[in-house]
Amino acid sequence: TIAYLNGEFLPLSEAKISPMDRGFLFGDGIYEVIPSYAGKPVGLNGHLARMNDGLSAISITNPYSFEQWSDILTQLLRHNEARFPEGNIGIYFHISRGTDTKRYHAYPDNVSPTVFGFAFALPPAQPLSKDAVKPFKVALQEDKRWQRCHIKSTSLLGNVMHFQAGIDHGVNETILYNENKQVTEASSCNVFMVKDKVIYTPPLDNQLLPGITRSIAIEAFKRAELRVVENWFTTEDLLDADEVWLSSSSKELMPVVEVDGNTIADGNVGDMWEAAIKAYNAYKF
Ligand code: PDD
Repeated sequence: TIAYLNGEFLPLSEAKISPMDRGFLFGDGIYEVIPSYAGKPVGLNGHLARMNDGLSAISITNPYSFEQWSDILTQLLRHNEARFPEGNIGIYFHISRGTDTKRYHAYPDNVSPTVFGFAFALPPAQPLSKDAVKPFKVALQEDKRWQRCHIKSTSLLGNVMHFQAGIDHGVNETILYNENKQVTEASSCNVFMVKDKVIYTPPLDNQLLPGITRSIAIEAFKRAELRVVENWFTTEDLLDADEVWLSSSSKELMPVVEVDGNTIADGNVGDMWEAAIKAYNAYKF
């Protein structure tokens, strides 16, 4: 595949960065994953705005304007579309603080950010029928990450360890809760639950990533007159829910039928999920 590195398009296998890059040494950077279907990105402005917020939060000057980012994305799609004939392409962008000559924790003065992008095969968009979707099973763990989960940092070891715990239990993902037993998010997704036809998702704060899929979905639900509430719920509420879903750029809305060995409701994908994915799909572009 063709990648982007610091102003150049080149084969991914030829993209090289220094081991002194702070992204490598410290995980000192910000990333984004932007989904696209048939050449059309989903939530591009939201992704670029969140990237900008993350860069500001860690005092990296955004090297490009929204227009320049959008142009790089378009070119990555164009360079790679022949390699992904199904037309579902994810674009990964990564901005690290840059390459220094020494390993020293403080932000260096005279480095310029390293900018990397590449295209990857995204799973197809979700089917719009509950009989066709392949639901997830998930594990449940106390969130052991840091207190700045709203920043889409490339320092993902905490997320990676939680995700791996799910894999080690033979499931697809791990839903996380805080010390008050409130569900926050999953290791690479946001979380929704349904109870008595009302959709709940945790409100935005430092404990979770402000997911772009989450925000598009909330708006889509409102337009489709599905009731949606941004409010905390506990692991007990989660296990007692009628439906549980995850959201992310690669999974859109993913139904969950088992949490920590407990079957959710009757163990089948629910009607609200089908209404929700239809609403999301109608609104996502
Ligand atoms: N994951 N929460 C976490 C911790 C995430 O890593 C992600 C995204 C989300 C969902 O955000 P969005 O809807 O903007 O994709 C929530 C990406 C896809 C990843 O790391 O691959």
